[in-house]
Amino acid sequence: MGLIEDIRSNACKHKKTIVLAEGTEERTLRAADIILGEGIAKIILLGNHDVILKFQQENNLSNLDKAIIIDPQNNPRKEFYAGMLFDIRKSKGMTIEQANSLVEDPLYLATLLIKNKEADGEVAGAMNATGNVLRPAFQVVKTLPGVSVVSGAFIMIFQKPDYTDNGMMVFADCAVNPNPTDAELAQIAVSTAKTAKAIVGIEPRVAMLSFSSKGSAKHEMVDKVVSATSLAKEMDPTLQIDGELQADAAIVESVGASKAPGSKIAGRANVLVFPSLEAGNIAYKLVQRYSGAEAIGPILQGMAAPINDLSRGCSVNDIVNLVAITANQAAGING
Ligand code: ACO
Repeated sequence: MGLIEDIRSNACKHKKTIVLAEGTEERTLRAADIILGEGIAKIILLGNHDVILKFQQENNLSNLDKAIIIDPQNNPRKEFYAGMLFDIRKSKGMTIEQANSLVEDPLYLATLLIKNKEADGEVAGAMNATGNVLRPAFQVVKTLPGVSVVSGAFIMIFQKPDYTDNGMMVFADCAVNPNPTDAELAQIAVSTAKTAKAIVGIEPRVAMLSFSSKGSAKHEMVDKVVSATSLAKEMDPTLQIDGELQADAAIVESVGASKAPGSKIAGRANVLVFPSLEAGNIAYKLVQRYSGAEAIGPILQGMAAPINDLSRGCSVNDIVNLVAITANQAAGING
């Protein structure tokens, strides 16, 4: 079986409850029907009952009968969730009036369902920009204990496994932190190694990327990557990591041997950590488009409960796969 088939079949064993905040969106409803039909997860749809039922009937999506539907606009438990949100955010200046209004926003309600343990994870983003999905997640669900920063990884599955041992690599951060500090970059490296091990099943060899290899260039941006590499080693002394390395030195054995002689990672990296969001986001999209690699993610790492963000250009299958990944993360497979 391939990685995605493994992930989908693992999810079926755990039957986690995933909330789909964009519960009236067409691709989301078609995906929910497949997820419920295959038993990948239990589903909560947030949205208007009538709109959902009409789409279900028109499109013969019989498995949607098994979904729980909650309408954020007409929610009998609105007061309860508003009280929860107010308690969580009052120290940050939120008023009860603001909480009352925000619980009608499905992206906030979804995070409150997770906080109240009614759902194990969330997938959204087919209709909303990344920032709108992430902000309520950061404010309500927050990070795992001991994790300072949430980041977004992509599993890259290549058609030609030239530079990887089994055709897969993990790239991060491609989704969240525009300009991480050295400490944040170190956290991203540690989290991404965990994702590579837990979800992809590879033994991570992490390259901290830069435009310099082992001092070939001098710049404060290079210093940041050097410092992040040593901080990551302090955070996890067992981590196989090296930097700073240029991309070719990280993945091409002959280049690695000449630019970083003696490195155990150079030329053999399977986890690439980018120095900024610009670099990571641009790199994964170029690799995906030019090489035809499949890019699965972003998988958000470091959140106290799994919440994953779709691209607005996602397909029905992308949603099914991300729900399966989220269910796996919820089952504790992600550490
Ligand atoms: N990890 C954990 N918590 C975070 C993080 C993070 N990376 N970033 C912000 N937070 C927390 C803050 O600590 C704060 O918590 P608090 O209110 O309890 O104190 C809360 O989130 C809000 O923080 P702000 O600094 O106000 O964050 P803001 O809302 O301005 O932005 C965001 C956060 C939305 C993630 C922003 O960094 C962003 O827009 N990033 C880029 C996202 C993006 O557009 N990615 C590219 C597209 S994705 C793709 O192509 C796959």
